[in-house]
Amino acid sequence: MNKPKVFITRRWPSSVEDKLKARYDVTLNSDDRPLTADEFKHALQHYDAVCPTVCDSFPAEVLNVENKRCKILGNFGVGYNHIDIEAAKAQNLIITNTPGVLTESTADIAMTLLLMSARRGAEGDRLVRSKKWQGWCPTQMMSSDVTGTTLGLIGFGRIAQAMARKAHHGFGMKIIFFKPSPAEQNIIDDLQATRCDSIKELLQTADFVSLHCPGGEPTHHLINQKMLDLMKPSAHLINSARGDVVDTQALINTLKAKKIAGAGLDVFEGEPNVDEGLLNLENVSLLPHLGSATIATRTSMGEKVLHNLDAFFSGKALPNQVV
Ligand code: DGY
Repeated sequence: MNKPKVFITRRWPSSVEDKLKARYDVTLNSDDRPLTADEFKHALQHYDAVCPTVCDSFPAEVLNVENKRCKILGNFGVGYNHIDIEAAKAQNLIITNTPGVLTESTADIAMTLLLMSARRGAEGDRLVRSKKWQGWCPTQMMSSDVTGTTLGLIGFGRIAQAMARKAHHGFGMKIIFFKPSPAEQNIIDDLQATRCDSIKELLQTADFVSLHCPGGEPTHHLINQKMLDLMKPSAHLINSARGDVVDTQALINTLKAKKIAGAGLDVFEGEPNVDEGLLNLENVSLLPHLGSATIATRTSMGEKVLHNLDAFFSGKALPNQVV
């Protein structure tokens, strides 16, 4: 029997690519370049499974291509806001994702950004590299304390909770969070966390605000100028979720006017393009969407996609079906 044909849109860790090659008739994107909408359409027409990742856009216009062969999109990533879910449903396309395995690494990056923003880490690095550093002095690059301050989490899923654990148990931070639905009592107890009744309350109270909500229409520009204006002038905004949760222009205006102390961003509206306004600011730390970028995590993400494909092609229940 012919092996199912599987199309992988970007390079994966080689150990997982080897497993894919052993089990499937695989086409890899060996030069790892971003593919076009037409190439995605072609893949949907000629492969049984297509495995995109979080930077590949699958709008209705792509998913509705005629004469589709593809039955499953095995997404390499937990977020799937780059795929038009309604169009996928209408086309009876199955979508799977990779939850669970990137929790700790993404929370680590959120903590990294929190520390970088609080302690002006990126700015200090730039100073040393510029060879303009004149040596230690008592007032040089004074910054904000982290230990004992208040961390406000918007969204309280796996990654937010992992960050809260690191912040509370590691840095003695007080945890407050906003989540529309109730949170588990044992988690609240472990973190001595307080649930805010509104985002407004959280923004007015937190020293560090970290975003952990999914991207897409419902959270688009959730953090707009009005919300930013509620933050304390000494507060920092951390975004390791999705770029479009924050109105970039409003954030630039806020940082420029020093209405908040700083921001740390791992994700951007329209990434990989980053607004020039951000690039020109000292009080923002910028990372290139590194949340899940450890060897172990990226390998586990690939393995998860593989488990979903294996289940699909052997007619078993899919471990991580989102549609
Ligand atoms: C995801 O999986 O959604 C992450 O953004 C990738 O790091």
